[in-house]
Amino acid sequence: MRAVVIEAPRKITTTTLDDPEPGPREVVVAVSGVGICGTDLHVLDGHLEGSEYPIVPGHEFAGTVAAVGSAVTELAVGDRVAVDPNLYCGECHYCRIGRGNLCERYNAMGVIRTPGATAEYCAVPVGNCYPVPESVPLEHAPLIEPLSCAVHGFDLLPGRLGEHYLVYGAGTMGLMMAQLARFAGAASVSVVDVNAARLPTAAALAADRTATSADELDRPEGWEVVVDCTGAVPAIEDGLTRVRKGGTFQVFGVAPEQAAASFSPFRVYKDEITVVGSMAVLHSFGRAVELMARNVIDAEVMISHTFGLDEYAGAVDRFRRGDGRKLQIRP
Ligand SMILES: NC(=O)c1ccc[n+]([C@@H]2O[C@H](COP(=O)([O-])OP(=O)(O)OC[C@H]3O[C@@H](n4cnc5c(N)ncnc54)[C@H](O)[C@@H]3O)[C@@H](O)[C@H]2O)c1
Ligand SMILES: [Zn+2]
Ligand SMILES: [Zn+2]
Repeated sequence: MRAVVIEAPRKITTTTLDDPEPGPREVVVAVSGVGICGTDLHVLDGHLEGSEYPIVPGHEFAGTVAAVGSAVTELAVGDRVAVDPNLYCGECHYCRIGRGNLCERYNAMGVIRTPGATAEYCAVPVGNCYPVPESVPLEHAPLIEPLSCAVHGFDLLPGRLGEHYLVYGAGTMGLMMAQLARFAGAASVSVVDVNAARLPTAAALAADRTATSADELDRPEGWEVVVDCTGAVPAIEDGLTRVRKGGTFQVFGVAPEQAAASFSPFRVYKDEITVVGSMAVLHSFGRAVELMARNVIDAEVMISHTFGLDEYAGAVDRFRRGDGRKLQIRP
């Protein structure tokens, strides 16, 4: 099969590999589409602790079952599936308390040590496959994985009706968070991005108000829920000051591992601010499938460009420039 391989940090090739064979409880998926996200850049640049090379990148994917293992009864050749790329050991302390996303031996297809989906085929455990409902076009299904991250993020927010939300970042994740907030009954949704070119899409999809700085939004009492979807320290530092008394700040964006941000502990104490992180997917993939079927996310708008396997390096460069929204490889 044709596949993209990251041989070592910053070394991308498109090459021919042996077709994968399914293990007894695995299926082989003929990949129809795989999204590019910030995590892929970290894998490419060698910035993720634990990534092993060479690796086939790609963790946001869907496709059609092409082969099933000898002990698979749940799926058949031809079934359309979206794949949860997260692999938990099932045995460590965190797995045993139901928090597999914090697994001590955390692994993810295309990210840590198991081949991902920027290839014609990918072998995956049957338990990681979710049938794609009839009403969801297969081209939209690679959005289910990032949506399942946003759903987990939402699980960690108070989720009260009629509150005001402020989202930093109008990339894929910020746009998803904004759409979820609106769907979940926010009183208002505001989106801030320093890249003004990204704001019209935020306004079209979910935002009541958009700005390049929260100052322009003129809400001195603050927002009950503020979510950082940038991973940028200036956004995080600004966002923490915008939380209303008794409100919640979520660190959803991935800041560089060594980055530090400053905040006022006095304010967090006095105004009872909750600060909460959110890491990947936890019991949220199936619900993301349901929400895709419910058209909570405007997939047509979210997927801005598609590329072939041979165009991977160019697609990554475009993603780095912040050009477009979700870029998708169609092997
Ligand atoms: N927690 C999770 O499970 C999870 C899952 C997926 C992605 N992420 C992270 O979420 C973040 C967003 O992902 P994405 O795919 O939307 O990325 P993206 O790069 O497409 O979007 C980030 C946006 O933030 C904006 N931005 C940068 N600095 C800013 C600032 N100071 N103020 C306001 N806006 C600013 C950029 O202009 C950009 O539009 C990334 O850090 C990514 O790694 C986290
Ligand atoms: Zn991703
Ligand atoms: Zn574990």
